[in-house]
Amino acid sequence: MSIKHCHNTADFRKLAKKRLPAPLFHYIDGGADDEVTLRRNTEAFDNCRLIPNALADLSNMDLSANVLGQDIEWPVFCSPTAMGRLFHHEGELAVARAAHEHKTIYSLSSLSTTDIEEVGQSTPGPKCFQLYMHKDRGLSFDFIDRCKEANYSAICLTVDTLVAGNREKDLYTGMTIPPKFTLKSLASFAAHPSWSLNYLLRRKFELANVRGKIEEGTGTLSSVIGYINNQFDRSITWKDAEEAVKRWGGPFAIKGVMSVEDARRSVDIGASAVMISNHGGRQLDGSTAPFDQLGPIVDAVGDQIEVILDGGVRRGTHVLKALSMGAKACMIGRGYLYALAAGGYPAVDRALTKLRNEIERDMILMGCASVKELNRSMLHFD
Ligand code: FNR
Ligand code: LAC
Repeated sequence: MSIKHCHNTADFRKLAKKRLPAPLFHYIDGGADDEVTLRRNTEAFDNCRLIPNALADLSNMDLSANVLGQDIEWPVFCSPTAMGRLFHHEGELAVARAAHEHKTIYSLSSLSTTDIEEVGQSTPGPKCFQLYMHKDRGLSFDFIDRCKEANYSAICLTVDTLVAGNREKDLYTGMTIPPKFTLKSLASFAAHPSWSLNYLLRRKFELANVRGKIEEGTGTLSSVIGYINNQFDRSITWKDAEEAVKRWGGPFAIKGVMSVEDARRSVDIGASAVMISNHGGRQLDGSTAPFDQLGPIVDAVGDQIEVILDGGVRRGTHVLKALSMGAKACMIGRGYLYALAAGGYPAVDRALTKLRNEIERDMILMGCASVKELNRSMLHFD
């Protein structure tokens, strides 16, 4: 199986599984506890069916959206995900480049393996920085100032990860940062020599944004779970979020909003967007799905704040359903990560091309020339 045999997210997932040592594949793929929420995120779309119209002159299609202060050519952009260079040596730079080529937004995680400045310089495309509030407040607010310098277009503050979700697969596989060739993981690393050689010979693993500030996870061995639990600030409140919004002064999203109440609070503190998200099912298992909460949140605050859906998106029709419910755009995480692991830039480029083509084809099949025309009359719920 090679990249050219990959036609959808599930195909890239299969290839990623072949290419990656087990600790890394399961780190991407897994969710918390029994993974009920992970499954529900995608299944939620199946509870709703599309009702197409016909004969509407579909010779010119408009998939564009305006979100986080940016015009993007199609209504999907990249979620922030940690430690890109663990999955492929091109890491974050490959995804940022592909997002730029596809005229959409790239989001960089606080826990990236390429720093804010290098990613900032790598493409002129729009970039959103994802902020994790560390206990070291100076460091956290410094991220915001660095993003201004590096011309980022937006910030999102993730609010669903004050403690790490219970990702038991990471415990079973012995997933550490930096990856360690322990007895448990050795067989899996040995069975993937090309990944292992790249890992050993290319640029050294580091949590690049905290270089020189935090040793854990770079200079000293940790786990993602350990890093989150030791470094993130559990005392953060809406007041702190408001301070971050003010300090940035531009498009600002609260990522990880699930309730109508929190969507209202996001409006109150002056955020410009909410990303409805449960962190791809990696945090609170048993949480409802973003798509389930989309309608209520759009109804409550859709005229005051941009509503973005994040989680479970695997198909073009999922995007159409979310937009019909009132989302401005959708984000994908694993949708590009599996591809990154499967083959670096060309694979991410192919994954984005495939998804975008799906959306366009589905729009024609829906009899809808512009994504702005999608509305709830086109949805049927059981
Ligand atoms: C994530 N996600 C995430 N979110 C965030 O705010 N900061 C981060 O560093 C990470 N890291 C991360 C790593 C990996 C491997 C995954 C899969 C996810 C969550 C991510 O931004 C997004 O919310 C989910 O991936 C969305 O769900 P789907 O698209 O993967 O179903
Ligand atoms: C994760 C963290 C790093 O989901 O956000 O793994």
